[in-house]
Amino acid sequence: MKQIGRWLRYHLHTFLKPPSNLARVALDFANQELPQKLFVLDIGCGSGRDVVFFSDFAERVQGIDSNTIAFYLARLRTFGRENVAIKKADFSNISFDKASLIHANMSLFFLPEKVFLRTWEKIILSVENGAIFSGHFLGERNEWRVCRQDMTFLSIDRLKEMLGNLQIYHFHEIYRFDKRKHRFWHIYEVVLARKQRPSIA
Ligand SMILES: C[S@@+](CC[C@H](N)C(=O)[O-])C[C@H]1O[C@@H](n2cnc3c(N)ncnc32)[C@H](O)[C@@H]1O
Repeated sequence: MKQIGRWLRYHLHTFLKPPSNLARVALDFANQELPQKLFVLDIGCGSGRDVVFFSDFAERVQGIDSNTIAFYLARLRTFGRENVAIKKADFSNISFDKASLIHANMSLFFLPEKVFLRTWEKIILSVENGAIFSGHFLGERNEWRVCRQDMTFLSIDRLKEMLGNLQIYHFHEIYRFDKRKHRFWHIYEVVLARKQRPSIA
């Protein structure tokens, strides 16, 4: 019940908020990197602030969220936008095949480790096929680590290993005390793509 109340507050709070900073950085990179029309998959889209932002520039945007309140708020917020589809689903169970940008603003780490790794493998496969990924990972010094077994936390070495051979366009480590929520955040924010292969002359 407490959890439902928290999500409700969060989604109402973000409903009228501007897009995330990460969405802007990701779009900037996509505009440089991707020659084709943009199909954005926003996994864990919440009430849709980034979906709205992307839909002004992309050919197609699909927002996915498993939370009922988020789903209805995102539908409401994107009403009338013909290039947008909002789906209520668990993003660890869907295919990322056709997306040219997979965007996970503060959402991917809500998966338990096994499912997180499975989902990451799917993301990497899409990246190897030419998609861009933008998203957040939780660092091991995040305060939630002591109480949230259902989420995934990563050390910097583990994250580096995961990012391995990819082209990192944006990497930002955030470690700060959130006065409003009285909580220590440790987060990595990344935008990445596959390494450019040298062209054959
Ligand atoms: C912190 S919110 C961020 C929402 C949005 N990206 C934003 O920046 O406003 C995380 C969102 O991810 C969603 N989420 C978490 N795990 C999910 C899953 N496995 N499948 C679908 N949605 C998920 C939650 O319901 C929530 O709406």
